[in-house]
Amino acid sequence: MTPGTTGQEESKEESQEQDVRWYPDADDAARAVTVERVTNAFTEAYGHAPAGVWAAPGRVNVIGEHVDYNGGLCLPFALPHRTYVALSPRDDDQARIGSAQVPDADNGQGGPRWEGALGRVAPGTVDGWAAYVVGVPWALREAGHTVAGLDAVVDGLVPLGAGLSSSAALECAVAVALDEVAGLGLAGSDEGRARLAGACVRAENDIAGAPTGGMDQAASLRSREGAALLIDCRDFSVRHVPFDLAAAGLELLVVDTRAHHALTDGQYGSRREACERAAALLGVRWLAEIAPADLDGSLQRLRGAVDDPEEADEIARRVRHVVTEIDRVRQTVELIDAGALAGVGPLLDASHASLRDDYEVSAVELDVACEAAVGAGALGARMTGGGFGGSAIALVRREDTERVAEQVAAAFAAKGLAAPAFLRAVPSAPAGRV
Ligand code: GLA
Repeated sequence: MTPGTTGQEESKEESQEQDVRWYPDADDAARAVTVERVTNAFTEAYGHAPAGVWAAPGRVNVIGEHVDYNGGLCLPFALPHRTYVALSPRDDDQARIGSAQVPDADNGQGGPRWEGALGRVAPGTVDGWAAYVVGVPWALREAGHTVAGLDAVVDGLVPLGAGLSSSAALECAVAVALDEVAGLGLAGSDEGRARLAGACVRAENDIAGAPTGGMDQAASLRSREGAALLIDCRDFSVRHVPFDLAAAGLELLVVDTRAHHALTDGQYGSRREACERAAALLGVRWLAEIAPADLDGSLQRLRGAVDDPEEADEIARRVRHVVTEIDRVRQTVELIDAGALAGVGPLLDASHASLRDDYEVSAVELDVACEAAVGAGALGARMTGGGFGGSAIALVRREDTERVAEQVAAAFAAKGLAAPAFLRAVPSAPAGRV
């Protein structure tokens, strides 16, 4: 999905003047167009109508970053922007998949089509976006389910590579489609959806080669409209936390910095490894087991256990981020439960500072976005998702949204950065049949 200057009616004129680029709204009309397009593309490619069209949302994470693989708490919600999959089961083992979002074969992602036998899919055999599709039937089979071959076409409204979980949306759309056509019956309950999410995580970890932690798949499959999803990543138990931005006179502005974002390039994995090493040195299963009150003592022990002082300092900062971030999630949820959503701004700011300075996963573009947003009156702002580019979120009073977006765009222009693109995030429905 590409941004334009037209998405928001009331801001159209002003946006063009200020060159503020908005992603088109993922409203009913935009969704209907996408469903029709993906259905037609399927029919054209395979000569018959698909068995159905299924969709799964991207997400933003309100707070709780890089804590899912540490057994921590995070608070994402589903976006109205969804990835669509038109699909039919086959009576053999072949998979044929096409993407309307991958325009040509020269983009290093393996081209717009992929074809092969599902039985031959294994770690290391599939490159690019197709891995996120065929990894799902592979993982479902690994979990003991019977899943046949498939024909599919994908399309969608989740901005690609923007840190809004377009990959998880793709996996989860395929998962709910296969659940129905293979008669698995998992999507009908939250417990079943948790299992589908587990299969999607395996697809991403083992077939796509991204060592991610599971927050995104839970958000896409288990969210509820109007609520954020509090996930306890020790056991992936969830609580739906009502998240009524409109009632509080607020909006959550997403700034896609359009800076490159990929979770398969080693940086993400190296953070995860540092945490696993620290947990082993401290004798805990998860860093989430370290209480904030024990943080200083734990950091001291770590410094004593690692010889090289620079390395010791780095690993201590990684741990400090994780332990303080989990505590910020707790505080955020307490405020929301108390009806004080507007009060979470400083926690968002603190989260960003911790990700920037201690965890070192921010990027110039993300820092500029957050600083400019807060400078323009946002109540708080932070990077969201894995980092190293991608998107930031800013909590803003409804009447300030346009101005904040303009000033962020102006700050990017002043620094010679490529123009960012904006959307408003609203907690939306989970994956399902269209
Ligand atoms: C990516 C991963 C998630 C999570 C976040 C950081 O989105 O897919 O599992 O680790 O980064 O919070």
